[in-house]
Amino acid sequence: MGLIAVQSPINTRSLQNPQLNISGGRRLSGELQVSGAKNSALVLMAACLLTRDTIKLKNVPPLTDIAAMSEMLISLGGQVRSVGDALELTGDSINTSTAPYELVNSLRASFFCIGPLLARTGMAKVPLPGGCQIGTRPVVEHVKGLKAMGAQVTIEHGIVTAVVPGRGHRLTGGRIHMDCPSVGATETLMMAAALADGETVIDNAALEPEVIDLAGLLIAMGARVRGAGTPTITIEGVDQLHGAEYAVIPDRIEAGTFLLAAAITRSHLRVTPVISEHLGAVLTKLEEAGCTLNHDGIGLTIKADQINAVDLRTQPFPGFPTDLQAPFMSLLATARGTSMVTENIFENRLQHVGELQRMGAAIRMQGNTAFVEGVTSLSGAPVQGSDLRAAAAMVLAGLSADGITSVRGLEYLDRGYANFEGKLNAAGASIERVSSAA
Ligand code: UD1
Repeated sequence: MGLIAVQSPINTRSLQNPQLNISGGRRLSGELQVSGAKNSALVLMAACLLTRDTIKLKNVPPLTDIAAMSEMLISLGGQVRSVGDALELTGDSINTSTAPYELVNSLRASFFCIGPLLARTGMAKVPLPGGCQIGTRPVVEHVKGLKAMGAQVTIEHGIVTAVVPGRGHRLTGGRIHMDCPSVGATETLMMAAALADGETVIDNAALEPEVIDLAGLLIAMGARVRGAGTPTITIEGVDQLHGAEYAVIPDRIEAGTFLLAAAITRSHLRVTPVISEHLGAVLTKLEEAGCTLNHDGIGLTIKADQINAVDLRTQPFPGFPTDLQAPFMSLLATARGTSMVTENIFENRLQHVGELQRMGAAIRMQGNTAFVEGVTSLSGAPVQGSDLRAAAAMVLAGLSADGITSVRGLEYLDRGYANFEGKLNAAGASIERVSSAA
């Protein structure tokens, strides 16, 4: 089998300083197709390190983050083959337990490899991912849990070295109470526990749908996992895992972004596929704001006319997701009345406020809360997306604004949205990817 690194179909590298030019004010119609969930696919790819057999993951979105995770797996000796929207991943020739700094630095989620590497080889050396644009993002809970399973963990010169001492180099099941329900820590520890000796119980586990998706793949690989989606997850370790075929869930954040694109342009369209339970808090807020929603079993139809102010506070699932806070704020910037938006998950995730203000939004900040007074219309301006979701928020604002909005920061956008402008253009938007040097 050849090794094929997955590349994003969007060739941003051929454009110098790419930006999106959005001609605002158009209504959207028709249907927007949701890709597989980025955050699920990334962790499911890491889980493939747990077996020598081939795992076929279907519905994997073509994103730069997926390409980066493929590079990480290949750098460890794994094989990655791209077949349509599926990836075939084989970990029979893993030949190192050391993850390269450049790859962890470029993709935070590649820190996930520490759990499966340790479980499979008894050793893992992975650079600390460090902070990013939205916050410091510690990995304390990941490390604490691995120690509770018998790993000796040291952090020196920015590198986390974890070793399982003793004969067999096998982790031992343990009881882990997480101080906060970290998604990444829950997933890391589930993967590590899948091959551990005995039973592991993770208390105060994250409830996110991506955690349930990981449990689904692990179970398909022969793992014994119970309780994913509840605060207590129990994993009974097995000696080995085997190959499987598994489809990634639809991306709830992409779906939410599309619903917000419809709402901000006061449009009527269908977004599909959507699993409503994955978006409960978001759908409630959209209805509270005045949108009409109708789920037909697969997709969700949204009809938006007048948008009213609503208050939101980001929280772990099933609360309102931090990943949709910025896109929702763009909508509220055009609502009737004043909304209060509080960011509780990441300490630096309100950088889009300044950019929205450049487009005429009336927003006042107080600590981690933004008071957003809706305006009749935003005005197109050159703006910068400071992280993935902030970049999406800028595109949404541009869809509704008067005139042209130029959005930079596409290196972030392309990490999480497959063919974003192509999909929106097919529904009636006018977005052009150009070189800002032109
Ligand atoms: C994941 C998602 C990201 C999403 C986030 C919150 C992936 C690849 N990324 O990130 O898109 O925004 O969940 O829904 O799935 N924390 C600690 N100590 C720790 C770990 C986390 O205090 O050891 C805190 C963080 O600082 C943050 C909160 O817990 O305030 C949530 O972080 P976490 O759930 O770990 O997010 P990620 O898994 O990194």
